[in-house]
Amino acid sequence: MSILQATAVTKDYSGRTGVGNRVLRGVDLAVEAGQFVAVMGPSGSGKTTLLNILSGMDRPTSGSVSVSGHDISAMTEKDLAALRLRRLGFVFQSPHLMRTLSLLDNVVLPGFLAGDEPRAEIVARGRALMDDMGIADLAKSDVTQVSGGQLQRAGICRALINEPEILIGDEPTGALNSAAAAQILDILDRVRSRGTTVVLVTHDPAVAVRADRVVLLVDGRVVEDVTLGRYEAARSAERTEAVSALLSRRGV
Ligand SMILES: Nc1ncnc2c1ncn2[C@@H]1O[C@H](COP(=O)(O)OP(=O)(O)OP(=O)(O)O)[C@@H](O)[C@H]1O
Ligand SMILES: [Mg+2]
Repeated sequence: MSILQATAVTKDYSGRTGVGNRVLRGVDLAVEAGQFVAVMGPSGSGKTTLLNILSGMDRPTSGSVSVSGHDISAMTEKDLAALRLRRLGFVFQSPHLMRTLSLLDNVVLPGFLAGDEPRAEIVARGRALMDDMGIADLAKSDVTQVSGGQLQRAGICRALINEPEILIGDEPTGALNSAAAAQILDILDRVRSRGTTVVLVTHDPAVAVRADRVVLLVDGRVVEDVTLGRYEAARSAERTEAVSALLSRRGV
């Protein structure tokens, strides 16, 4: 069974003239548990719209979405919010941390919101995650005192605090320099090696080559869906070529 599945998903935005703008035109996508999928495509092709629908932050105009076997199209807002909090982690291009809280307090906040465990346990897990990501010494730092890469790592810790089955990211390396982006990629490799499913939107072929599978969205449709298999650094040149060929075949 797929852990994340979109079936015949469409999304229309009503334009200023009242004429509907169809942004997703029937997307079918089934992600298997433990898979790392990179979603690529030109600006405006509907990538963010698709991620928002997959993660239940937005509703499709038609079609359905299931997460861990639950049809989220039929859920109430309350049930959907609970599912999002516990089963999905979301990483944005810029991590939207709260400026009034320390990094550690930001990381543990979704754990407190879930309210399923004693706070001490959540804090211990938050510290362990930050340690894993190489930012343990920044636990008490202010959001404004750290680098973009460190902030993004904290954003990933926050997304993982409730041990989600699925981590979804919308260009999480997009605002970083290449050294910081490479660190995030190593972290994502570790996340997926624990069995977490990862779905990432990226413009960067260097990010996409790490994925098991690359899905290309053009004009609201999946036009390519290529399985690369498990990443091995030794074969990265070959994979880079496969991703570049995929993009140039579609003129992206
Ligand atoms: N809330 C909205 N209202 C109206 N139109 C929208 C809305 N959100 C997105 N769109 C339109 O939908 C299309 C797809 O947008 P989307 O943000 O999904 O693209 P994207 O592939 O993520 O692009 P980028 O690579 O630039 O982030 C665009 O034409 C955009 O203008
Ligand atoms: Mg986008």
